[in-house]
Amino acid sequence: MIEKRGLQIVDRDDDGVDRAFRADVLTGLREPQKAVPARWLYDDAGSRLFEDITRIPEYYPTRAETEILEAQSTEFAEQVGSGRAVVEFGSGSSVKTPLLLRAIEPAAYVPLDISGDFLRMAAEDLARKFPGLPVHPVEADFMREVALPGAVADMPKLGFFPGSTIGNMVPRTAVDLLRTMRATLGEKSKLLIGMDLVKDRAVLEAAYDDAAGVTAQFNLNLARRINRELGGTIPVDDLRHEARWNDSFARIEMHLVARRDMTFEIAGEWFSLARGETIHTENSHKFKRRSANMLLLAGGWTPVRRWLDSRRRFSLILAEATIARSAP
Ligand code: TRP
Repeated sequence: MIEKRGLQIVDRDDDGVDRAFRADVLTGLREPQKAVPARWLYDDAGSRLFEDITRIPEYYPTRAETEILEAQSTEFAEQVGSGRAVVEFGSGSSVKTPLLLRAIEPAAYVPLDISGDFLRMAAEDLARKFPGLPVHPVEADFMREVALPGAVADMPKLGFFPGSTIGNMVPRTAVDLLRTMRATLGEKSKLLIGMDLVKDRAVLEAAYDDAAGVTAQFNLNLARRINRELGGTIPVDDLRHEARWNDSFARIEMHLVARRDMTFEIAGEWFSLARGETIHTENSHKFKRRSANMLLLAGGWTPVRRWLDSRRRFSLILAEATIARSAP
């Protein structure tokens, strides 16, 4: 059976199992370092828990980025200028996007999202807050080049990619996405992108392992989802959430750690975890000024300005589409 959720086509077998989910889980768990792609963290329960994460005291990125957007509106106006079509990669949050739109007097707003429901909600919300601003939502997977609406074809574009979402990709995927964004936005476009900064390890680990245990629930929800949707027998209570700093790769990794030796079944296949062994579920890369610039350059973007919050925890970077040239 094929079920359509927005643009996402969910292919289910006769038992109602999402085939892509099952394939990703089984393939990932057969590997020596067990791993499940992070996208499966976001079922309804996961999406709700993620909303909660943005509000917990230890999770500073959302507040730090919002502070920058509030504090630097004059600078954005100077650097970006008015009359651009703002293209947001992912549906706009009701807080961050209005701050940007208020600062720069855009000519249009184009939110891109793979989930039609979130997209329509965000677009309606923005249209209400900015009467007179043309809003053109596009339901699309922004990991691929997107054909923008004809109404904004002749406008210069400003891409907006907040939340350090770029950091959830390994560098190779991040570079692919940056290049795709450049193709989507075209020549003379600019990009305003949020990138979280390398900092004290304890601060980072706490942000991804809060005292109230919300991030732990978010991570453990994946194991519950596997049990529920794939007929799994993972002993969830014998797994624990761990956020660990990987210094070589400059990233926080989320893992589910086995508290004891365990064996379980998923979709008829058996797996085992020795005590202390893990399932890797998410990465969040952190940047320094030069590493951020290098990633952007590799993706076809020339950094032009960078702003930090008052505690220097998070960066918002303005870049422009690099002009192709033949000489060094
Ligand atoms: N991009 C943000 C970050 O890495 C949000 C995020 C994505 C996140 N996945 C997460 C936050 C998992 C906590 C846990 O911080």
